[in-house]
Amino acid sequence: MKLFIDTANVDEIRKANDMGVICGVTTNPSLIAKEGRDFIEVVKEITSIVDGPISAEVISLETEGMVKEALDLVGKINNPNLVIKIPMLPAGLAAVKQLTAKGIKTNVTLVFSAAQALLAARAGATYVSPFLGRLDDIGQDGMNLIKEITDIFKMHAIETEIIAASIRTPIHVIDAARLGADIATVPYKVIMQMTKHPLTDIGIERFLKDWESVQK
Ligand code: E4P
Repeated sequence: MKLFIDTANVDEIRKANDMGVICGVTTNPSLIAKEGRDFIEVVKEITSIVDGPISAEVISLETEGMVKEALDLVGKINNPNLVIKIPMLPAGLAAVKQLTAKGIKTNVTLVFSAAQALLAARAGATYVSPFLGRLDDIGQDGMNLIKEITDIFKMHAIETEIIAASIRTPIHVIDAARLGADIATVPYKVIMQMTKHPLTDIGIERFLKDWESVQK
């Protein structure tokens, strides 16, 4: 399973990229708004840091508006790694169909059921993003959604890649990997949590102490 970073913060993206652990970035309007910077400027800067799929989301809720925004982004960002994030709506599916026909990659977002994921795939989406953390937040089993989608896509040889999204913990990442999600998009904080183990810290401390004890 590949790892993307789920942020629009370029410092976090740079740090995760320098560690060599990520190969793509997902943003959304909330993450962009948090940065208080121009949308195009941020996405352009991200494409200059990471050489992999970079998702940027449209705001319109109508097919025509989504396609217009997508083409505008494609023109302004001018980078083959750009992926257009489209909300899971009937109008969004129609936009995915049109963008796919033009050779533009799409990521259908806000997917909360296997039925939605199947529709997105059949519309031609490059990626689908089931939001497991937000399902957990309302007392449902987010990981079960990842299982349903991975089972269905495998059984029917569907090529659309599954991005496990709305990740809250390292356990989410590992469980999604075990179920066969293609990608997990992970906040920087969770990437850092994944680096930690108390026995690693204890081990380092002991190695250093033993080393120092024989130094003259
Ligand atoms: C994915 O593409 C989304 O940006 C993200 O995972 C949403 O996560 P949240 O539920 O933590 O906002």
